[in-house]
Amino acid sequence: MIPLDLNPEKMPQHVAVIMDGNGRWATSRGLPRIAGHRQGASTLKQLLRCCKDWGIKALTAYAFSTENWQRPIEEVDFLMLLFERLLRHELEQMHREGVRISFIGDLSALPASLQAEIERSMTETLHNQAIHFTVAVNYGSRNEITRACRQIAQLVEQGKISAEAINDSLIEQNLYTADTPAPDLLIRTSGEMRLSNFLLWQMAYTEMYFTDILWPDFDREVFHQALLSYQKRDRRFGQVKALLSA
Ligand code: IPE
Ligand code: IPE
Ligand code: MG
Repeated sequence: MIPLDLNPEKMPQHVAVIMDGNGRWATSRGLPRIAGHRQGASTLKQLLRCCKDWGIKALTAYAFSTENWQRPIEEVDFLMLLFERLLRHELEQMHREGVRISFIGDLSALPASLQAEIERSMTETLHNQAIHFTVAVNYGSRNEITRACRQIAQLVEQGKISAEAINDSLIEQNLYTADTPAPDLLIRTSGEMRLSNFLLWQMAYTEMYFTDILWPDFDREVFHQALLSYQKRDRRFGQVKALLSA
């Protein structure tokens, strides 16, 4: 049930989350950082279900950035194993619930066994329609935009298109997120107020919500607060409000 103070007609279609604060959550409890990641995974599962219940059509979660390889090897290894284990254990139920799962990022650098699970999950759920769940792994916006430039430059080099034919939509088609609408709302937890190389192009007009809550503590109530804040905003897209509503 959608909380009564939320307007079902003004729900964001697409929510993106930067799941931050797992390490601090664990450290503050005297636990190893990986315990925070484990708890964080369960938070994400609950958020996905909540989005589905409340009629949100797409959820994108930042799980591992191109910069996160610089963390201690044990932590990186644990995260890769966690992603693989989650896919193995949760895929069947997600599929049953109509979740379409996608991954964005440079997947070629991931362990082969994880790549195989990713491939399987994307193929199996391709036609599901309840919610589109995208996980960003080894994702970085700069890398994504550079890759798009290279692909387009090749088309020009091969004489397939002219330089004048390059426009916003062609660039968009060459991003990992091709054919998916931009996020309406971005939520970042743990009090950090930065994008950390996440969806820079796509979030040109996304509404942002920052909370001090650490990711493992993010629950329906905090999400509810984020949605209330979102519904109070005027999304003007550079226009004048009176014209927009006319
Ligand atoms: C976010 O939590 C999860 C990943 C980046 C994989 P962190 O691991 O960044 O937690 P903090 O920011 O160190 O507390
Ligand atoms: C951003 O969190 C990446 C993910 C949540 C996967 P980080 O913890 O890596 O970001 P910084 O280092 O604080 O900017
Ligand atoms: Mg962090």
